[in-house]
Amino acid sequence: MKKKSQYIKEYNVPDILRMIRNNSLKPKVCAEKLNGKLVVISGATSGIGYATARKYASQGANLLCINRNPRKSKDLKREIEGEFGVKCDFLLADLSSMKEVVQVAEKLRSLRTPIDVLIHNAGVYLTKRDITPDGIEKVFMVQYLASFVINYLLVDKLKSQGKARVIMVNSEGHRFAAWGLRFDDLNWEKRRYSGLKSYGSAKLAQLLSMIVFKECFKNSGVSINAMHPGAVKTETGQDNGPMYRWYKRNILDRILKPTDISAEALYYLGASDDLEGVSGKFFNLTKEEVPAPPALDMEAAFEIWDKSLEITGLPEMDIHEQAPERNAV
Ligand SMILES: NC(=O)c1ccc[n+]([C@@H]2O[C@H](COP(=O)([O-])OP(=O)(O)OC[C@H]3O[C@@H](n4cnc5c(N)ncnc54)[C@H](OP(=O)(O)O)[C@@H]3O)[C@@H](O)[C@H]2O)c1
Repeated sequence: MKKKSQYIKEYNVPDILRMIRNNSLKPKVCAEKLNGKLVVISGATSGIGYATARKYASQGANLLCINRNPRKSKDLKREIEGEFGVKCDFLLADLSSMKEVVQVAEKLRSLRTPIDVLIHNAGVYLTKRDITPDGIEKVFMVQYLASFVINYLLVDKLKSQGKARVIMVNSEGHRFAAWGLRFDDLNWEKRRYSGLKSYGSAKLAQLLSMIVFKECFKNSGVSINAMHPGAVKTETGQDNGPMYRWYKRNILDRILKPTDISAEALYYLGASDDLEGVSGKFFNLTKEEVPAPPALDMEAAFEIWDKSLEITGLPEMDIHEQAPERNAV
């Protein structure tokens, strides 16, 4: 991983200005249908995931949702199947539990049907540090490690399909981890916890993992991309205290956009022919964008990969065979 001073040199004003301009763009729209395709999406019971599930269903895709709430999942199934005539199944998993994440990944791996689009959307924003029963900082677990484990355990299945798109709902918030990851303190034990920085670190870790997954999927017909879904009005932050919720409801929500733009963008990235063969990219809605310098640090990408294997206890895959780029680091 590079030093702060090296990252400082890599920040450049035109990229930042482009990002600011991109924030006011509308997403490109895809009119192609996905009849009978299978789309797996996490966190479909609320916000961006809910709007995206409806968008894909409206275009003929069958859904397999990964949700934690049984009642909301049943309501969603009833609503989507009734309204769009597609299948909307669900797997229950609390993505803050390592055991449940591994179990859900194994269920996905054993599916006989191909997964055409896999969308990692579930997420949480916390203003106070919370530790999961596995001893992992919760935002890091839900926002990053859950997607890492699922992708990792699905590498062989997705490659064997010969075609699939993985999309990670990331965020411009990865820029809050402006000087990279603190590998010596991924669990926020040595520093004062910051909601924005922990969120940024988890999103940055996900972008770094994309560098390695892209290599794993090279020439297999499988792509992996990440996107910022816009600043949109959702249920995010509801786990925080009354002050934050007041601020969210009375100030933030008034300036946030509707989730249609996120759903439209996620549909375009999953369905449009324009994205054929495009992998390892970060999009602001549907506009390709250069992420912050720490998200392009190849050495940090392999470091977080190794660290993630260590934390999750997953068996190492032959990374030299799967990701030949590693030899160049
Ligand atoms: N809103 C924005 O402006 C914005 C901007 C950039 C990025 N994002 C990203 O967009 C994604 C979706 O967020 P959102 O804004 O739509 O928030 P949201 O309305 O709170 O939706 C979050 C979804 O994730 C699920 N979820 C949360 N914790 C979970 C857990 N431990 N296990 C399983 N599922 C869990 C929630 O389930 P329940 O329904 O059971 O709570 C819900 O379905 C997140 O990755 C977020 O970081 C959002």
